[in-house]
Amino acid sequence: MNLSADASIGVFDSGVGGLSVLRAIRRELPAEHILYVADQAHVPYGPRPLEEVRAFAEGITRFLLARGAKLIVVACNTASAAALHALRQEFPHVPFVGMEPAVKPAAEQTRSGVVGVLATPATFQGALYASVVERFAEGVKLLPHTCPGLVSQIEQGNLNGHETRSILEAALLPMLEEGADTIVLGCTHYPFVMPLIQEIVGPSVRVIDPSPAIARQTRRLLEMRGLLRSAQAPASLNFFTTGPLQPFAMLLPRLLGETGPVVPLDWKDGELVERAQMKSHKEKPYAS
Ligand code: DGL
Repeated sequence: MNLSADASIGVFDSGVGGLSVLRAIRRELPAEHILYVADQAHVPYGPRPLEEVRAFAEGITRFLLARGAKLIVVACNTASAAALHALRQEFPHVPFVGMEPAVKPAAEQTRSGVVGVLATPATFQGALYASVVERFAEGVKLLPHTCPGLVSQIEQGNLNGHETRSILEAALLPMLEEGADTIVLGCTHYPFVMPLIQEIVGPSVRVIDPSPAIARQTRRLLEMRGLLRSAQAPASLNFFTTGPLQPFAMLLPRLLGETGPVVPLDWKDGELVERAQMKSHKEKPYAS
């Protein structure tokens, strides 16, 4: 694998959710080159079996390593739940940063002892969630909710419409009734609706977005390995999607606050390949 500090950080998610993590990484590590893969052909990951999500995560990891990634951020709680352990075993020389629901800081900060956790069904099923609950949630009442349909709304850029609000109210209002004073965002799509969440729960409820902590962990791992890039030349941002190009490119400035070239990819036998460009017959040379 490429161990040069000048190599890129690879970041991936089922879609635009990982951009909330990338936003924090850009603030923390503005000199780093970035490769971001959005597997929008398969979004949402949340309702899928863990083995299926693991196969996607492995395929994306192979793609990022082939492009020279020096570290990979699994910017998706669902893919982390499904694959982080397997990825570390399969690629032992690659540093991975993964997501886990921020139950630890929530348990430390709650005063009421009641914490709401918003995440996908696959995240709640994975061993990673069971392990954070066992390690950190003693004496705390956790209220899990899967927010069906929320990831799709965010993928469409509906960050504060009627549908998005009613999905969030269905999750959050019962949590408030049970006395929750802390809400954990256990899916990387959800920070994009944080203003709406905060509006629904009110200013006295703490909402935890783990992305700044993930960015700091990324810095620590790079520092430990001597792989931090110093900013002699500007950093490059390159994006890839397995879905339609245009909607992703249009959401980038809105969600990330910056943009870069977007290359479309297709899945072929479990591997990611650049999408063949449509050839126009008119462009073909005339053959007499
Ligand atoms: N953003 C992802 C997560 O953190 C995936 C959501 C989905 O595709 O269901 O879980």
